[in-house]
Amino acid sequence: MVVTVCARAPRSASPARQAVCDRDTLGLVMPVHLVQITDTHVVTADTDEVLYVDNNARLATAVASINAEPTPISAVIATGDLTQWGIAAEFAQLAELLAPLDMPVLPVPGNHDDRSEMRRRFPDHPWADAEHLSWVVVIDGVRIVGLDSTVPGEAGATFGADRERWLVSVLGTQHDGPTILAMHHPPFVTGIEWMDRSGFDALERFESVIRESGTVDRIVCGHMHRPMSAMVGGVVAEVGPSTAIHVALDLQPGGPKRVVRDAAGYRIFRVDGTAIVGHVRPVGTGESAFVPGWALAEEAAAAAVAEADR
Ligand SMILES: [Fe+2]
Ligand SMILES: [Fe+2]
Repeated sequence: MVVTVCARAPRSASPARQAVCDRDTLGLVMPVHLVQITDTHVVTADTDEVLYVDNNARLATAVASINAEPTPISAVIATGDLTQWGIAAEFAQLAELLAPLDMPVLPVPGNHDDRSEMRRRFPDHPWADAEHLSWVVVIDGVRIVGLDSTVPGEAGATFGADRERWLVSVLGTQHDGPTILAMHHPPFVTGIEWMDRSGFDALERFESVIRESGTVDRIVCGHMHRPMSAMVGGVVAEVGPSTAIHVALDLQPGGPKRVVRDAAGYRIFRVDGTAIVGHVRPVGTGESAFVPGWALAEEAAAAAVAEADR
């Protein structure tokens, strides 16, 4: 099942606004802005693990920041490891933390999540009629394909025959607009060896499906807990920054397992008719944007010219 959503019209939208929204749904109005959050690893108050950062607080800060974005965000793609251990109490906490979001949340499972709990917590999501939790949604003209890369009970990823059949079928379906493929595990070797050990098991097959379909415009992933990018089957594949702890950047062979308290963050994708541009928004650290003196001077000069032309 493919669900088409117009995220810009609230349920109470007036007929005029709904008409605008219908145009958007056909992909006639761009750009569309989408957010990706990943590896939120939500915990409960009972969690006694040492996590090194407050995962829930960092997600709450990210949620507030997403709602405050100056451009309307059509949807939030959540690329897995949404909970620490996939238990019901963590999914309940996740729902509470995501509830303030003004736009739809599109959940992709990660190796820390539990399929049945995820189905239970997102009952209205258009899950594929399959054991794996894959899905297709069209939002404001952008087709977003969520591919479940997980193997229950394992940290690593699979592109087994069931996922391959499903993905080939989905990508072979006509769509007049951009397609984003969202999945938890990145389909490339990152060079951070201890994390690559929980990598993908069928990279070559995955790559040829992407290349042969020719219909994927961007691949967005999580799992690695730090932003990075690569080309896969002729398509840019990107990992987003985690809102929880980050993995330290160490590319030496056999490098040690290290984590780092980098800023929490999320990606914003600006999708227009010709390109998908990925931005990173760090949150919870640093300072707000301010007007530099040279911009003030330019703005004053432009205002003076406009005034003189009146
Ligand atoms: Fe993770
Ligand atoms: Fe993961």
